[in-house]
Amino acid sequence: MTNYNIKYKQHNNNHKVVASAPGKVILYGEHFVVYGTSAILCAIDKRVHITAIKSQDIQIQSELANLKHNSYKQNISQIDPILRPLYYIAKKSTEITGSNSGITLQVKSDIPSGAGLGSSSACCVAGAAAVLKLLESTNTQTDDIINMAINAERTVFPNASGADTAVSALGGMITYNTKTGYEKIKSHTVPKFGLVITNSKIPHNTKTVVSQVERFKNKNQIKFRELLNKETHLVSQVLSILNSKDSDRQLSKAAVVRLGKLASLNQEYLKAIKISNNALDKIIKIMESMTFGAKITGAGGGGCIIGFTDKKTANSKTQTGKTEKETSKAMSQIEIVKRISNMGHDCFEANIDNTGLNTF
Ligand code: MEV
Repeated sequence: MTNYNIKYKQHNNNHKVVASAPGKVILYGEHFVVYGTSAILCAIDKRVHITAIKSQDIQIQSELANLKHNSYKQNISQIDPILRPLYYIAKKSTEITGSNSGITLQVKSDIPSGAGLGSSSACCVAGAAAVLKLLESTNTQTDDIINMAINAERTVFPNASGADTAVSALGGMITYNTKTGYEKIKSHTVPKFGLVITNSKIPHNTKTVVSQVERFKNKNQIKFRELLNKETHLVSQVLSILNSKDSDRQLSKAAVVRLGKLASLNQEYLKAIKISNNALDKIIKIMESMTFGAKITGAGGGGCIIGFTDKKTANSKTQTGKTEKETSKAMSQIEIVKRISNMGHDCFEANIDNTGLNTF
């Protein structure tokens, strides 16, 4: 059982707390992270806001579903899976603080749900932070919140690696490994590449896709092991680019091109474990023609595709003297978004969120 390192003081009259946490993209390593590879993730500038209020009963109010109970006696497995993690957080927090307060949680999100952008992890992080603060825990460490959020997420998705939850709490860019935990990638190397995201709008369920990959692994053990080794090598190549001396100020154009190429190679590995499909492949092809490389982000089967750019605006001079417009794959992010949107897709720019969890 998880030992939450939290101490508590007497409750006072603070009856309302707001916390917010960002969504994420997995840049490299999804699925393989569940089997021991490190993943590289960054938090993005889309957030979930949760307001926690002391109340008579237990209520969760969100755009997706609502819940109202007059005690915590409800068996967790009987709670609507969409609301189960937040119910778990409310129940667990009252248990460990010894509080008998009811709690109302109001959820507002600008992260599209079910799109692989970490909306449920952000909910768990913001929810755990808001409830623990509402119940006046003291000495609450970020790791306590991450632990509680991971356990909450596992009430619906037992194999969750914890990667999405960690990056949402920490912000910025991290590596995550199920054995060794997380490590922040130094911020000076962070926003040197740009990201565009296309939401395929194809619904997917992370738990289902993760189980599908598990079946693939069990049937194709040798192939899976090979892919796992290749992914481990790929992630170490990415890290050596991000941590290289050159990246102190600005990643060189060549480095960003390489990051894009490695993303496209990562996509090949994701295709090999069968989490892509024709509709996603089509979007990836379009994005690859305009960016330095593109791949699924998150569970796949649907959800979002990310493309790497160097953030530059069109018309700046390249090393060869040609303008960016004249060279292939050198459109501004805005132009890329415009073109993909004009094809009827939901496409947007993403910036890295360096704040992570915010509690008010
Ligand atoms: C889902 O966002 C990422 C997966 O790697 C699952 C996980 O890490 O828990 C598919």
